[in-house]
Amino acid sequence: MTTLIHNIAQLVAVPPGPVAGQSFTSPPIVENAALAFDEDRITWFGSADQTPAGPFDHRIDAHRGTVVPGLVDCHTHVVFAGSREDEFVRRIEGAAYIDILEAGGGINDSVRALREASVDELVRQSHPRLRRMLDAGTTTVEAKTGYGLTPADEIKTLEAIRLLDSDLPMEIAPTFLGAHTIPPEYDGRPDDYLAAITDESLLRRIGEQGLAEFADVFCERGAFSLAQSRRFLTACRQHGMTPKIHSEQITRTGGTHLAVELGAASADHLEHIDEEMIAVVKGSQTIPVVLPGCSFFLGSAPAPARKMIDAGLPLALATDCNPGSCMIESLPLIMSIAATMLRLTPLECLVACTANAAVALRRAERLGAIAEGFQADLLILDVPNVNRWAYQVGVNPVRKVIKAGRVVVDRSDTA
Ligand code: NIG
Ligand code: FE
Repeated sequence: MTTLIHNIAQLVAVPPGPVAGQSFTSPPIVENAALAFDEDRITWFGSADQTPAGPFDHRIDAHRGTVVPGLVDCHTHVVFAGSREDEFVRRIEGAAYIDILEAGGGINDSVRALREASVDELVRQSHPRLRRMLDAGTTTVEAKTGYGLTPADEIKTLEAIRLLDSDLPMEIAPTFLGAHTIPPEYDGRPDDYLAAITDESLLRRIGEQGLAEFADVFCERGAFSLAQSRRFLTACRQHGMTPKIHSEQITRTGGTHLAVELGAASADHLEHIDEEMIAVVKGSQTIPVVLPGCSFFLGSAPAPARKMIDAGLPLALATDCNPGSCMIESLPLIMSIAATMLRLTPLECLVACTANAAVALRRAERLGAIAEGFQADLLILDVPNVNRWAYQVGVNPVRKVIKAGRVVVDRSDTA
C-alpha cells in the first residue's frame, strides 16, 4: 500500500545517525515538499514538483505544515508507581536531591510504591504517560526498570514494559536498571546487593527471554562506585545487554570513561563532564545524552551541550521522565528548554531527538531519519517550520503521528 504526503511547507530530511558537525547544525531542508512511503518504508521525498506519478493508494494533505521524523526519547524512567510531589515541594523549600536520596527518600519512595503495585497496576499507571508522549510526537521510547530492586520486582517491571509495548503503537526499548540505588534492606552492603541483582539465574532469564536490550547503572555518590558499576555492566553484558551509564550527574565520578571502555551505547546526564572526557567520548561508539529537563526541574546547572556539539560530538537529548528529578513527558518541551537554556537551535534539538537518539538505542539503521528505506515514523505538524515548534513553548502542534507507515494519532480537529 503506497501513501503520498503532499502540501508540505517544510520537510526536515534528518540524515541517519550519528550526526555531528555541519549536518548536525544544518540538516537538509526541503521547502514545498512531498514524501512517499510503501507499507512501513519511506520510498521517496523531495520537492513537490518532482513528485512521482503514482498511483498512490492514499494521499495525506499536510496543509502547509512541517514534516519531521518521529521523535526518539532515548532515556526515561516512565514506568513507575505513585508520585513524589511532596519531595518536589521539599526541594523548592531548600532540600537537595542527593540529601533526600541519602536519607532514604527519593528513589526509595518510588521503590516502595512499585513493590506494592501489581503488574496490571503498573501498566495502568504508566499507560497514560506513554500515551501523552505519543500524542506529543514520541514514536520510540526507552523505558528503564530501577524502582523494583529485587529480582522479582525488576522482572515485574520488565513484564509491564513488555505489556505496554504491545498495547501502545509506539516502540519501547527496555533497559534493566537493577543498579539504580541500594535498597533499604541492603543499607551499607552495596556489594551484597550487587551480588543479588546480578544473580546468574536472574540475568540468564532476562537475556534468554529478551526482556531487556540494555543495562544501566547510576554511577554516583550515594549510589554505585566506578568499580561496582563496571562489575554490574560487565555481568549484564555477558547476557546480551548493551551497557548505558548515568554518569557525571551530581559529582564527577568517571562513569563516562567507563562507558567508552565498555563500548556503552550511551553515557547519560553529563552535567559535570570536562574537556578531557569530551575528548574521550569523541570518536567512540558512545552517544552523549543530555537531559536538560532534569536541570530545569532541579534548578541546577545543565550539561555543557553547546560545547559538546561544537567539539563535534553526536549529542542526543532525552526527557529522563521520572517521578523525582524530572516529571516531564514531552520531548518537544525538552527541545524548547534545550533551545533556551543550552543555546541549541531548534534544528539541532530535532537532530538530537531523532537520529542521534536512535543511535543511543542502537536503531540508527532503521529509525530517526528521513531517508529512503528508513521506517516511515513521521510527524505532520501544524507549524510552517521547525523553529516555530520550539518557539511556541508548551503548545502541541502535532496533527498526525505516523508509526511504521500507520497513522496512530490524528489530532486534525485540534491542531
Ligand atoms: O536520571 N539519577 C538517577 N535516576 C533518575 C532519577 C530517578 C528518581 O529520582 O526517581 C535520573 O535523574
Ligand atoms: Fe535517568
